[in-house]
Amino acid sequence: MAGTVSRRKFFGTAAATVGVLGMTKSPELYAQALAGTQRFGGNDADYDRMIKLASNENNWGPPKAVMDAMNGAWKYANRYGYPDGNVVEAIAEHHGLKPENVLLTAGSGEVLQVVGTTFLSGGKKVIGADPSYGSVYQHATNIKADAIKLPLLKDYRQDIPGMIDATNKRAAEIGFFYLCNPNNPTGVVVTAKEVDQVVKGIPKDMPILIDEAYHHFVDDPAYGTATPYILEGRPVIVARTFSKIAALAAMRIGYALAPAEIVRKMRPYSMGSVNALAKWGAVASLKDTAGQAEVRKKVIDLRHKTTRELEAHGYPTIPSQTNFFMVSLEGRTVQPVIQQFREKGILVGRPFPPMINHLRVSIGTAEDMAKFVSTFKELFPKKATTNTAAQR
Ligand SMILES: Cc1ncc(COP(=O)(O)O)c(C=O)c1O
Repeated sequence: MAGTVSRRKFFGTAAATVGVLGMTKSPELYAQALAGTQRFGGNDADYDRMIKLASNENNWGPPKAVMDAMNGAWKYANRYGYPDGNVVEAIAEHHGLKPENVLLTAGSGEVLQVVGTTFLSGGKKVIGADPSYGSVYQHATNIKADAIKLPLLKDYRQDIPGMIDATNKRAAEIGFFYLCNPNNPTGVVVTAKEVDQVVKGIPKDMPILIDEAYHHFVDDPAYGTATPYILEGRPVIVARTFSKIAALAAMRIGYALAPAEIVRKMRPYSMGSVNALAKWGAVASLKDTAGQAEVRKKVIDLRHKTTRELEAHGYPTIPSQTNFFMVSLEGRTVQPVIQQFREKGILVGRPFPPMINHLRVSIGTAEDMAKFVSTFKELFPKKATTNTAAQR
């Protein structure tokens, strides 16, 4: 069980995190640091003791089939050219597409950056919702481009009509349209109908980046993946990751799916540096449908259970379709609450302005979630029950 951990051992804010930038050459960590993601500055024993509900990871770790495949790939550690399990072909086949529709990347975070570098040259802007996955906007800022961000609606859905309207009015300024579906940090989906409105409602040649990092955890029938638009030749780029469903976050593997012409444009900006273990693990994960189904079921069941318990305690949650959710702190500000959880051995999500009265919590194991709920109840008094969870 997690013990109390000293607050000196953590880097919690963007400013503090700048200290780690000198220590890492990883663009992902750099992006995370700039985006203000919490980085662990303690030793590994402290880290191992913590309950990690901050970064939407998969707390069960890679399934056996994935571990076995990665272990079998160590024999290629000294090679440049080696059999890679035909990972690109396997991804293409999985989606009913061709290898030329796939760009393999070091995590889907690299896809987001490559799309930015490819389509924001000449001072173009990305348009998207706010808050959403901030590294897209951060990367735009890093390359001296800019973002047009439209606030979420009152019910935390993305303002699709507003985004379409703004794109049409400012088309000449915009390099690409970003849709995080389901959205991070809220967990809320954009329906298939709304995606269709975007695809058909903005200029025909405007690239649309649809970030489906949390695709595997959706059970809302109104949602649909955007991959069929690629077959139609629409300028849609879908970003997917093995970090969540296959628990390979630290292995760094993800991919973009897009029409071949768009993949050709993006490829020169990709590092092409995915390692052998990650490739073999990814291929095994695609085949391991039983393992994927088990993770999905555990996440969805625990999402329902945890949100129901918090609502019964009187704290509304935002209906999530991901492996995390947001809970309202009913007027309390999130920053000191994050610190209080940390002192109890639990890492929870960073603040997502302007939603500073909401806490983002990732779904961990049943034991992790039980500990989270009991700690929440220690920190927050019972209030009159809300009934939003009962409605789902
Ligand atoms: C919405 C979204 N997109 C992309 C990523 C990047 O993930 P990765 O680079 O591990 O594939 C994340 C990570 O949490 C995310 O939340």
